[in-house]
Amino acid sequence: MGCLILLLAQCTNDVKLRQHQTMKFLTLCVSAVLLDAALAWAPLSSLPSRTAKRTAATSPLAMASVAEEVDYANAERYLSEHPNNNVPPHIAALVGRGLHTKPDHPIGIIRAKIQEYFASLPDDYKIFDAEDPIVTTKQCFDDLRIDPDHPGRSPSDTYYICDETLLRTHTSAHQSMHLRDGYEAFLCAGDVYRRDEIDSSHYPAFHQLEGVKLFDQEEMDSASHLKGEEWVKSPECQAIADDLKNVLEGLMDHLFGETEKKWSEDYFPFTEPSLELEIKYQGEWLEVLGCGVIHEEVLSMADRAERRGWAFGLGLERLAMILFEIPDIRLFWTDDERFHSQFKEGQIIKFEPYSKYPPVFKDIAFWLPDDFVENDFFEMARGVAGDLVEKIDLIDEFTNPKTNRSSKCYRITYRSMDRSLTNDEIDELQDNLRDQSADLGLEVR
Ligand code: DAH
Repeated sequence: MGCLILLLAQCTNDVKLRQHQTMKFLTLCVSAVLLDAALAWAPLSSLPSRTAKRTAATSPLAMASVAEEVDYANAERYLSEHPNNNVPPHIAALVGRGLHTKPDHPIGIIRAKIQEYFASLPDDYKIFDAEDPIVTTKQCFDDLRIDPDHPGRSPSDTYYICDETLLRTHTSAHQSMHLRDGYEAFLCAGDVYRRDEIDSSHYPAFHQLEGVKLFDQEEMDSASHLKGEEWVKSPECQAIADDLKNVLEGLMDHLFGETEKKWSEDYFPFTEPSLELEIKYQGEWLEVLGCGVIHEEVLSMADRAERRGWAFGLGLERLAMILFEIPDIRLFWTDDERFHSQFKEGQIIKFEPYSKYPPVFKDIAFWLPDDFVENDFFEMARGVAGDLVEKIDLIDEFTNPKTNRSSKCYRITYRSMDRSLTNDEIDELQDNLRDQSADLGLEVR
């Protein structure tokens, strides 16, 4: 069953507001870059406020002061006049909702269950959940050996505030910072952002949980000087990978009950070896997480060259959709009481779908410019109609053999979660979409 939520997306493009934000954002960009530079050499003790802020995540008193310090829910932080800022207002409006910190929200319930499992293990995992969703390109990519030309860094995939700062695309962006600060075992949960298509399992904002554990220096001593292949083949590296698999298999059993599991090789620039875990759930193999032995260069960039360890990252929506049987990823963001009243702290309850209003279908066809980026079109549609856009499907495409021009036709499914849509209001949105298509160089047919 594919449900739809109505997200009250703020779709204004107020130029004055944006001008007003320019100064704010410039300060933000400069301070983020300076902060990174400072962190490269500053000892832990010289950064009291920043450290206090991050260690605050587990203390309610300190949490209050964090909230006063920076209001992540202030959309203005993410909008700016920088020519390369590509954060639309409807995305800025999602930041800072903190679904992963809400005890009665499915995302918060899953996160708490994961934490409960790690608390039962012998190591003491520090919990982080209140890092700034704005990170630098260094934190999100360079510190993790993600190449400058990696497609994930491109503005077609990532929301940039300015050239050096962006909305984090994964919680791995905080790994190096916590390692540099001296933490040895930690979990870090947060909202992450990626420009993406629209359907029931893809949404540009979602949540991840990252886990990291370093091993005792004595255990690794004979191997910590090894590099590359030699290290990867060593019994010490093998022992770390075995521990990682054990811990994560235990986590899956804790969440799903005893399930069949399958490991396969994967690739992440920040781990070697890299692995992927799939579990069999109701007869289907589902990919649940990525992980690996932390790359020695990542550790050395984080000033932990002498240490070795593992890391993993998982998507909380994916786990929650499976466990609570939530059929549409957009439901997590709804304010509808019919959704929220169904969930209680500490309990995994199957979601009961509520009534669904009828969809309205509209097609749009256009000739494409040479540099057409599909995500730009999806984003524009979301900017115009918010979460009334349930789905966009490509239904036809062709190239005229004479002119060599290509054309695409998309079917947009509009649907509201809590009312019937009128044809008139959708016609108006669709007209708006046609007008704005010209800005992307699309020639509506
Ligand atoms: N950051 C990865 C992603 O977003 C997930 C991930 C994979 C995290 C492997 C890790 C890791 O820490 O070791 O897809």
